[in-house]
Amino acid sequence: MADVQIVDLGKAFDQITVLQNVSLQVADGEFLTLLGPSGCGKSTLLRILAGLEVQGSGSVSIGGRVVDGVRAKHRNVAMVFQSYALYPHMTVAQNMALPLRMRRLTALQRLPVVGALLPETRRIGAEIAVEVTQTAGALGIAHLLDRKPAQLSGGQRQRVAVGRAMVRHPTVFLMDEPLSNLDAKLRVQMRAEIKELHRRLGVTFIYVTHDQAEAMTLSDRVAVMLEGELLQVAPPQQIYADPAERRVAEFVGSPKINMLEGVVREQGLVDVADSALAIDVEGEAGAAVMLGIRPEAFYVADRAGPGALTGTVRLVEHMGSDLYVHLDMRGVVEAVIARLLAERAPHIAIGQVVNLGVRPDRVLLFASDGSRIRPRRPTLAATASVTPIGEYVQ
Ligand SMILES: Nc1ncnc2c1ncn2[C@@H]1O[C@H](COP(=O)(O)OP(=O)(O)OP(=O)(O)O)[C@@H](O)[C@H]1O
Ligand SMILES: [Mg+2]
Repeated sequence: MADVQIVDLGKAFDQITVLQNVSLQVADGEFLTLLGPSGCGKSTLLRILAGLEVQGSGSVSIGGRVVDGVRAKHRNVAMVFQSYALYPHMTVAQNMALPLRMRRLTALQRLPVVGALLPETRRIGAEIAVEVTQTAGALGIAHLLDRKPAQLSGGQRQRVAVGRAMVRHPTVFLMDEPLSNLDAKLRVQMRAEIKELHRRLGVTFIYVTHDQAEAMTLSDRVAVMLEGELLQVAPPQQIYADPAERRVAEFVGSPKINMLEGVVREQGLVDVADSALAIDVEGEAGAAVMLGIRPEAFYVADRAGPGALTGTVRLVEHMGSDLYVHLDMRGVVEAVIARLLAERAPHIAIGQVVNLGVRPDRVLLFASDGSRIRPRRPTLAATASVTPIGEYVQ
C-alpha cells in the first residue's frame, strides 16, 4: 500500500511563497496529475514528496508512514526528472544500475578495483545486471545498454530515465514533465506507453505537466494548480465540464472558453451581447454574471434573436473535421471562438454575419469574484419567454 497524504503543505523561497495550504490525498495505485502553468510550484511539490526539498510547513505520509525528515533514498519513491538527469559519462546499463548499486552495495564495495575483490560484490552485481536487463527488455531498450546518453534519441533517453526509476520497484512514481523534451508525435506515443506502464505496474503515479492534453488523457484525477495553490482536484471530465471556478475553466480547454459579460434581466433570462439567453439562474434583475461558453457549445442557428448570439466572422481556421470561427460581437471585447463541424458550416467566410445558437445546459456561470454559480436544476429547461432556437440545416 502506498497512498500519499499531503496535509497543509507550505513552502517559501527567500520569503516568496511558492506553495500554500496544499492538501491532497492520492489513493494507492492512482494516476494523479498536477496540472498548472510554468512557475506555479509543481516541481517544488514533487521534490518535497521525493525528499529532495524540505517543506516549510505541513506534512507528507506515504503508505501510512509520516516521511517528514526521512531521506529520499528511504522513501521508496522514484522520480523521473524534467531533464532526465542521466550521467553522460556512464552507459545506459550503468545509469540504470546506479540506484540499485547505491542501495545494495556499501561504499567500499562500490570502489572500482578493491570493491570487486570483496565477497558478495560479484553476486550482488550479477543480480543487479539481471534486473537492469529485464527492465531494459520491458522498455524496448535492451539493445542500447552499452551506449552513452549522447548516442541516444530524446525518446530513448526518456525510456532510460524511466528504466532507472523502475529498477528500484518503487511504490510511488513521481514524474516531472517527462515528455516535455520530445517532439509532438513522439510525445503522443510515449504518453500511451506511460499509461500502459502504470497499468502494468499498478503503483501510484504522481505526474506533473503543464500540458492539458497529457493531463486529460493519462489521469484518474487531475489537480489544477495555480500560484502555489490547488484550485480543484477531480476526474478529467469533471475538471472540463464542471470547473469549480473561473480560473480552472479558463486554464483547461483549447481553444479557450469564451467569457461573456451578462446581466440578469429576469429569472431565467440573461442579457448578453446583443441578445438574451434562457439560462436558469437565480439572481436579482440587474445582477452581473459571467457566462463561460466553450467553443463547441455553439451551433449555427437558423435565425437571429433571443436564444442566439449574432457575430461577424473575423477569421476562420480550418482544422480538418472542425472549423474554429472567430467572431466579433457587439459589446464583447475579445473575439468569440466557435468550434463548428466543417460539414455543418461549409460556406462560412470572413465578413459574414452568423447567428450562433447556444446549448443552455452548456453555459457555465460565474460571479464577478470568479466563483461558480451553479444552476438550480441539473438540466436547464428554457423557462422564460425564449424558445430555444433551431439548428440551421443546409
Ligand atoms: N531553489 C529555489 N530558490 C528560489 N526560488 C525557487 C527555487 N526553486 C523554485 N523556485 C521558484 O519557485 C517557483 C515555483 O517553481 P517550480 O519549479 O516549482 O515551478 P514549476 O511549476 O515546476 O514550473 P515549470 O513548469 O516551469 O517547471 C518559481 O517561481 C521558481 O522561480
Ligand atoms: Mg517544473
